[in-house]
Amino acid sequence: MIDLPTDVAALRAIPALTRAAAFCEAYSLTRPIVMAPMAGACPPALAAAVASAGGMGAGGMVGDGPDGISAWAGKVRAATNGAFMMNLWAPDPLPERDPAHEAALRDVLAGFGPPPQEIALAAPEDAFAAQCAAVVEAGPTVASSIMGLYPPDVVARFKERGIRWWATVTTVSEALMAAEAGADAIIAQGMEAGGHRGAFDAARGEAQLVGLAALVPAVAEAVTVPVIAAGGIATGRGVAAALVLGASAAIVGTALLRAPEAGIASTWADAIGAARPEDTVTTRAFSGRLGRSLPTGYLEAMAAPGAPAPAPFPVQRSLTAPMRAAAVKADDLAGISAWAGQSAGASRAEPAGAIVERLWAEALAEFGG
Ligand SMILES: Cc1cc2nc3c(=O)[nH]c(=O)nc-3n(C[C@H](O)[C@H](O)[C@H](O)COP(=O)(O)O)c2cc1C
Repeated sequence: MIDLPTDVAALRAIPALTRAAAFCEAYSLTRPIVMAPMAGACPPALAAAVASAGGMGAGGMVGDGPDGISAWAGKVRAATNGAFMMNLWAPDPLPERDPAHEAALRDVLAGFGPPPQEIALAAPEDAFAAQCAAVVEAGPTVASSIMGLYPPDVVARFKERGIRWWATVTTVSEALMAAEAGADAIIAQGMEAGGHRGAFDAARGEAQLVGLAALVPAVAEAVTVPVIAAGGIATGRGVAAALVLGASAAIVGTALLRAPEAGIASTWADAIGAARPEDTVTTRAFSGRLGRSLPTGYLEAMAAPGAPAPAPFPVQRSLTAPMRAAAVKADDLAGISAWAGQSAGASRAEPAGAIVERLWAEALAEFGG
């Protein structure tokens, strides 16, 4: 049951809260707040803290193989009985390679980290199939997709195992495709969101930067399954607004990154706390896919006149990997992929459970609770 502190009958008459209450019941939550899956920044302790506070924990598993997926789920389960989601990226086809262009990129990258080596890329299908099998085995409450849809056989295996499928979308057309393919809920990701943008067609990232206030009501009109709003939600007002717009729950990503359980580099955490909404930038320079980050020395160099354009995903992601890893180790913001959403500055350095409780208490206050 949803945790309503005051006049329950009056609050339940508010459609936004009725939606949220139904969603909480369906997923055994006490607060309609879902942690964003954040590959590289979602240790089990963070997911467990959110789940123990009555929200849903999450793991971004794109960078993990089967053993990592199984170990992450085991650690979350050892720490909480709460609900959690595991997220995988639908694989993009491998692009054409351009050795001369990659050499120019390596020259830029050498200024910010260890010289990147030649990279060999394997077709992603086998690795993705192994990841999906590991998620089925791990048995989370929810498996979420981004960058496209899961193939029908994967969806069928999730459902057989009682795992519900949430599909991340960035447009109404993608939402319709996801609903048609059997998604149990739609994550509507507004352009305010920190991290990668989940456009099904990577090439359309910049052209279809839809904001949350336009996207959520339009998706809620277009589909019959619950909608979960993601992007720039870092305050109780933001949570309340997402529900009023038509969502049944809110996803928070950047708002959790300053929690001690997140364990991110302190230069990144501090820059999140200091950012204004206008300070983040969208860029392909970290991976070849569009994402929203704080400005960094590396991004400045890549935006300078004459700098090479980023290579396509996943070439660019592999080229930048040594720089990103070394920068995190050195706690040097210049080379960190400093993902952050437009509400970064509202994030507080509090324990994750306290953040979830505060966001929901503030949201209820907006409804008169
Ligand atoms: C550090 C970071 C990593 C992310 N990694 C993933 C990911 O692996 N899979 C995914 O579906 N979304 C990922 N996202 C996007 C989030 O799921 C979500 O859309 C976003 O955090 C919401 O915006 P907010 O950060 O403003 O709350 C990531 C976001 C951040 C900040």
